[in-house]
Amino acid sequence: MAQDELFKNIIAHTKEYGYIFQSSELYDGLGAVYDYGQYGAELKNNIKQYWWKAMVQMNENIVGIDSAIFMHPTVWKASGHVDAFNDPLIDNKDSKKRYRADVLIEEYREKLNQKIEKEVEKAQKRFGDSFDKATFVSTNANVLRYQSEIDTLTKRFQAALENSNLEDLKQIIIDCEIACPISGTKNWTEVRQFNLMFGTELGSVAGDSSTIYLRPETAQGIFVNYLNVQKTGRMRIPFGIAQIGKAFRNEIVARQFIFRMREFEQMEMQFFVKPGEEMKWFEHWKTVRRNWHLALGFSEKRYRMHDHDKLAHYANAATDIEFEFPFGFKELEGIHSRTDFDLSQHQTFSGKKIQYFDNELNESYVPYVVETSVGLDRTFLSLLSNAYAEETITKEDGSTDQRVVLKIPAPLAPVKVTVMPLVKKDGLPELAREILKSLQFEHNCQYDEKDSIGKRYRRQDAIGTPFCVTVDHDSLTDQKVTIRHRDSMLQERVSISELEKIISYQVSMTRLLEKL
Ligand code: GAP
Repeated sequence: MAQDELFKNIIAHTKEYGYIFQSSELYDGLGAVYDYGQYGAELKNNIKQYWWKAMVQMNENIVGIDSAIFMHPTVWKASGHVDAFNDPLIDNKDSKKRYRADVLIEEYREKLNQKIEKEVEKAQKRFGDSFDKATFVSTNANVLRYQSEIDTLTKRFQAALENSNLEDLKQIIIDCEIACPISGTKNWTEVRQFNLMFGTELGSVAGDSSTIYLRPETAQGIFVNYLNVQKTGRMRIPFGIAQIGKAFRNEIVARQFIFRMREFEQMEMQFFVKPGEEMKWFEHWKTVRRNWHLALGFSEKRYRMHDHDKLAHYANAATDIEFEFPFGFKELEGIHSRTDFDLSQHQTFSGKKIQYFDNELNESYVPYVVETSVGLDRTFLSLLSNAYAEETITKEDGSTDQRVVLKIPAPLAPVKVTVMPLVKKDGLPELAREILKSLQFEHNCQYDEKDSIGKRYRRQDAIGTPFCVTVDHDSLTDQKVTIRHRDSMLQERVSISELEKIISYQVSMTRLLEKL
């Protein structure tokens, strides 16, 4: 299936099955803002729990906080967001559509990469087992031409971004002959900078002094609480402060469903280290965070590391963990070495000393920071992209059937188990409800007695329930039930007295955490 068709199907599926709705749909929706439905909210909570346990609970030197969304306006002056949190935008004069200039160029470069991959695939087919990829990419004329174009473009692009050279960004778009995907023309406006923060007024007095911002990242809530946490928690360096919370950005080019939203959630951790040790920790957190994604058990090939072309105003090194979404490889998480930029800025702007006294060195310093920042919504989308499958299945009588199944890792699945009486009579519903009650203390469960068992399985597959438990007439005498496994569709007969233990083991978050 084509990737854009797959993406459309995923979006439609999330709406049909109560995962994600367009915000204010009743009023024709609000662009790039989404609501999570009954299953979406559960999945989101489970992802948060997985992150919190992995980052806070499993690390004795990391603590979690929950800071306010509104902060003193000077925070954003100090952090550099008022002056530098901009996107370079360009409009196509014919379609009147607006784009991020840097994204247009990145997409063009990605197309060149794909051309190289196609050449490699073709050659691989032609040469079979004797194919030597390294020799091929270093000698094939087409590959060398594409690679040389990528290298030249990357150099020029990086320089334009570093120097905020908006004219050259436009010139790159012209020189690469990048056309508007809507109008197909190359009739572009100049590139302009656009600040992404949402401002609002605090209290009833209008004017600049009372303008406050909806936070564009949760990180600043951690920085301004650095001293509070370090002192009250008697934290010794190296240590981390984590939090999960909403962030807001006035994204002008807001497409691709929940990938780029105006209101979204971040899971961020700031790790405070001794100056000079930041690159060691930067490498450490790159590995740790990559493993967190891989522990979900999906193909490693869908994740890759990508160093930034342009460093944010606060960073001296930055790498993205990219995921292959249905619309290509894109940023899922950022790992940033933020130096002492933020704490030093807050020290200057607040006039208060923000330092750490290092007993070993017998001196004070402003700690350096390595940050891990992952979007909750993007993690959600990566999970759905991995989990969504359309399958043809062969039934016992040899006929075939279609199913759409969400193969979400069991510890994260919104509903863990659905209990079903085979028929709605003969005491089966009563026993099924008894079993349901015993499982509900620990797990989010459902009860379903409508339609045939086959239809009930399909409904549970579609929302990603890993286990269905069927109560039949034999259950009344042998005190056993049938567990049906979502992915393999295999069924096994187990004692009712063993059921809770079996399910609890499979859906426990420990199954993910022990892989880290
Ligand atoms: N504190 C650093 C920071 O905010 P970032 O790379 O701008 O860095 C971190 O954002 C993560 O937040 C991204 O990797 C992405 O997962 C998520 N994110 C950023 N903007 C987003 C948006 N508009 N919609 C959804 N997620 C977003």
